[in-house]
Amino acid sequence: MILPFAESYKIKMVETIRKSTREERERWMKEAHYNLFNLKSDYVFIDLLTDSGTGAMSDKQWAAMMEGDESYAGARSYYKLKESIKDITGFDYFLPTHQGRAAENVLFSSIIKEGDILPGNSHFDTTKGHIEFRKAHAVDCTVDVAKDTTAELPFKGNIDLNKLEDVLKKYPKENIPCIVLTVTNNTAGGQPVSMENIKGTAALAKKYGVKLLFDSARFAENAYFIKTREEGYSAKSVVDICREMFSHADFMTMSSKKDAIVNIGGFIAFRDEEDWKGCQMYNIMFEGFITYGGMAGRDMSALAQGLKEGTDFDYLQTRISQVAYLGKKLDEYGIPYQRPAGGHAIFVDAKKILTKVPQQEYVAQTLGIELYLEGGVRGVEIGTLLADRDPVTRENRYPSLELLRLAIPRRVYTNNHMDFIAAALRNVFERRDSITRGYKIVKELPIMRHFTVELEPLG
Ligand code: F0G
Repeated sequence: MILPFAESYKIKMVETIRKSTREERERWMKEAHYNLFNLKSDYVFIDLLTDSGTGAMSDKQWAAMMEGDESYAGARSYYKLKESIKDITGFDYFLPTHQGRAAENVLFSSIIKEGDILPGNSHFDTTKGHIEFRKAHAVDCTVDVAKDTTAELPFKGNIDLNKLEDVLKKYPKENIPCIVLTVTNNTAGGQPVSMENIKGTAALAKKYGVKLLFDSARFAENAYFIKTREEGYSAKSVVDICREMFSHADFMTMSSKKDAIVNIGGFIAFRDEEDWKGCQMYNIMFEGFITYGGMAGRDMSALAQGLKEGTDFDYLQTRISQVAYLGKKLDEYGIPYQRPAGGHAIFVDAKKILTKVPQQEYVAQTLGIELYLEGGVRGVEIGTLLADRDPVTRENRYPSLELLRLAIPRRVYTNNHMDFIAAALRNVFERRDSITRGYKIVKELPIMRHFTVELEPLG
């Protein structure tokens, strides 16, 4: 008999989570104004709001925390982290920051000016926010097939090289501070970018004399997919693939809260000393001195260890197989999602499920609320609420997809939890035709409204 697959770790510490009744959840959801972000976490049984900062640290990471050096400048923890980053990415220079968006803030303060153009593959919201805040423009060049949730393709996170070249041709290189390649592509469903596509992007960057930035929050999951899906990479180690990926980039921003399995932290790493120096002033102003940048020494030590664990093949196989396991369960029940299953999450295709709810009534949000009411499972809307209003017309921007993201925290839940999630979703799926109305907005902020929006049910 072939031995079955099993987790590459065992559990040393547990945290109690509690179920609730449907009546309780209805009350709590109403009190939260039908915004899942407004729920107390104690009211959630399985929390799939995000895989960011929600992972479980290992015994070795906790041990590393005890060895943290809290010196203001030149801490041992900084040098440990520097070594880890160099080993996995090949980058010689880096600046710590308190999280990913802080890394964007520092780097973009140094390289972006008003009117600049930054092409990329589905820039993450904070990345786009930091670009637009500087009156520059993010141009999305993701492959069109990413919008077809049924297309079973290995690298749906890719950038469309023709679209990218059109942008590079159209604008002078002085107006293109960098190309932003997000690995994996979160917004497209945790879909990976192939090495071939990375090489193609780097070749275009070189041809047009512009720099290439990797938004690297989930770089290790991307490397795992290259190893398991791309020809010529199966015999290479994950770390070797990471080094090859980063060899094509000029710099990287990192939200360490994802693939480096820490609860807080980030960094920017650079190939070129001048780029590093150009960011130092902003790091000191916004984050902290260049050898701690908003992180405690202990957090840098845990991150140095987390980078090693996050690039371990057995760990990645455990993690990504769990996401795929949830996908398989949904297949059994006929529930549509962005195919194939992503690295960090399943993106349920809400529009295909709640066909009677008009898009103006926030379809993916409606599905998210139903899933919570059904089983206390909290996902997050990636749809019209997130897409926000057009800054000029103030009309809703309607994205082509309405997705409910179920992001799986690292090393936190078991496959029994996956079964529970799938069963809860199945119950909603089975009564989908009875759900005909969604929600209306009663309160919202002018930007990033989805975090604090207040809703009321229609019908
Ligand atoms: N880039 C990507 C691709 C991300 O997914 C995120 C965060 C960031 C940058 C920003 O990093 O949160 O450390 O400031 N994504 C989280 C999510 C919030 O839920 O997908 P941060």
